[in-house]
Amino acid sequence: MASWFSKMLGTEMTLDNLDRLLEKQLQDLYSAENQLISALPKMADAAASSTLKNAFRSHLAETRQHKTRLERAFRLLGKKAKDEKCDAMKGLITEGDEVMKADGDDDVKDAALIAAAQRVEHYEIAGYGCVRAFARRLGRGDVAKLLEQTLKEEGAADKKLTQIAERSINAHAAKANPQNKRLGEKANGSQQRGASAAHHNGRAPVRSTAARSSPRTRGKRRPNMARR
Ligand SMILES: [Fe+2]
Repeated sequence: MASWFSKMLGTEMTLDNLDRLLEKQLQDLYSAENQLISALPKMADAAASSTLKNAFRSHLAETRQHKTRLERAFRLLGKKAKDEKCDAMKGLITEGDEVMKADGDDDVKDAALIAAAQRVEHYEIAGYGCVRAFARRLGRGDVAKLLEQTLKEEGAADKKLTQIAERSINAHAAKANPQNKRLGEKANGSQQRGASAAHHNGRAPVRSTAARSSPRTRGKRRPNMARR
């Protein structure tokens, strides 16, 4: 018979003991990690900044480890690793997909990718913090230790994204501000002509202007950016 909690959620899930809750939460995290393993390569491809690409790629390698650790945790608990679809992660990844599909300035898009990725990290940090506490409470120090390793890596990944944003990407993204763009165009007539030409070629002027304002080489999304 379903518990009051299950009824409230409108599901058949029964949560009548902490062992069961731990198992369900591990299944949720297992799904979250699996979804991330599919999403991170796309995020790395979509990032314009090489630093951000590398951060996503290195977190992909860690995420594969997180999945393996969860499988070990299930084994230690005598349970089968099961992927219980994590709708929250699905939603967070969908938001990331929307950023990737958006048109606009490379630096602003990178800032948005970081914002999406940090939401994912914070979700995982909350999830791993809870399961570690449940495992400890149940006297499963072996499982808690595994989960703590992952929790630390999620925290480090989150801090790294903050550093990348604050040390470079947000500053570059701020230069894509339309007000700054207008100031830049007034200051340089040839740039004004370049932006205008880009517009006539069907490319968004904001992207062209950001390319001039950014010292970084970002060729992928900016073909034909040579000065006219
Ligand atoms: Fe993870």
